[in-house]
Amino acid sequence: MKILGIDTSCDETAAAVVADGRDVLSNVVASQIEVHQEYGGVVPELASRKHIEAINYIVSRALAEADVTFKDLEAIAVTNRPGLIGALLVGVAAAKSLAYCHKLPLLGINHIEGHIYAPFLAQLASQNLLSKDMVHDTLTFPHICLTVSGGHTLLVEVHEGWQYTVLGGTQDDAAGEVYDKVAKYLGLGFPGGKVIDDLAQKGDPAAIKFPRPMRNTDDYQFSFSGIKTSVRYFVEKARRAGLLVENGQADVKPTNPDRITIEDIAASFQAAVVDVLVYKSIRAAKATGAKAITLTGGVAANSQLRASLKVAATEIGAAVYYPPMSLCTDNGAMIAGIAYQKYQQGLRDELSLNATPNGSLV
Ligand code: KG4
Ligand code: ZN
Repeated sequence: MKILGIDTSCDETAAAVVADGRDVLSNVVASQIEVHQEYGGVVPELASRKHIEAINYIVSRALAEADVTFKDLEAIAVTNRPGLIGALLVGVAAAKSLAYCHKLPLLGINHIEGHIYAPFLAQLASQNLLSKDMVHDTLTFPHICLTVSGGHTLLVEVHEGWQYTVLGGTQDDAAGEVYDKVAKYLGLGFPGGKVIDDLAQKGDPAAIKFPRPMRNTDDYQFSFSGIKTSVRYFVEKARRAGLLVENGQADVKPTNPDRITIEDIAASFQAAVVDVLVYKSIRAAKATGAKAITLTGGVAANSQLRASLKVAATEIGAAVYYPPMSLCTDNGAMIAGIAYQKYQQGLRDELSLNATPNGSLV
């Protein structure tokens, strides 16, 4: 059973065809990152316009790469919540038109449910993207899912039948958002997650002790804005004192014990974020007895987060799963995947389906 999945919730125009909720036959994504880069963040109005330009082509490519036509499809699924409203509307309008023209059932999907489903998807063997960590056959229920992206930080217990208990989320900035903001303070461009991750590997994570807000609170809530502000003040102070070795700048004071490198700041910042994320994920697994933890969303690409979570999970006898990068970030395959499960559960939407910027998981 093949489903076309469409996602235009933020700054990626994405479409994919997935068979039986598992096999990714195609996964096409048009990134708008270059358009938004010069503004240092996603500009909603520009995102909508770019989606309009790209959507028809991206859907055709997804069908062509999967080697199917609309006649081979069982249903069309589209992200209709949460996200940028103008951006969401483009995908929803396209999906509705296609469902109407080709007389196919329509399913409106929650974007976060897509992310939570992503670790469960299998890539086509020919794409050779599966490492041992990504094989999902042993993924058990209930499991704990940590969704960390530019827009979301959410800790969820996932039950059989894709039912959820939301354990906690961020009270302010999302994890990816702080990576992007900190990258901005350090003059590293947008988006900043990957750059900071790379620099951090050359720095000392213990160089600066940044705060770990809410780490020890008796809940599953997160707060990242305090870390962000702390890094900002630290960077400004070091810069004023002429002690910051900027990115790419020759280290003119290698013997000065007070000098600080951008690599050390990146590593210390990353250590603080990862520490809190890992600590609470492990606590959730222990409290619920879950034997698996999944990691998803753009920040799931983070090398330190993957490594630390793996070590901590092993200590409590839990497995860790994360999807390949192409399924961590926004994509249509995760939407088609969860749609398959919902379709089996009887979900069908009317052609009056609308988009909404908010949308809770349960
Ligand atoms: O899931 P995604 O593509 O878009 C949203 O739905 O937000 O996530 C993008 C976010 C950005 O904030 C980006 O900086 C972050 O994921 N990111 C990373 C890494 N790669 C991407 N953050 C930390 N480490 C990385 N390696
Ligand atoms: Zn997302």
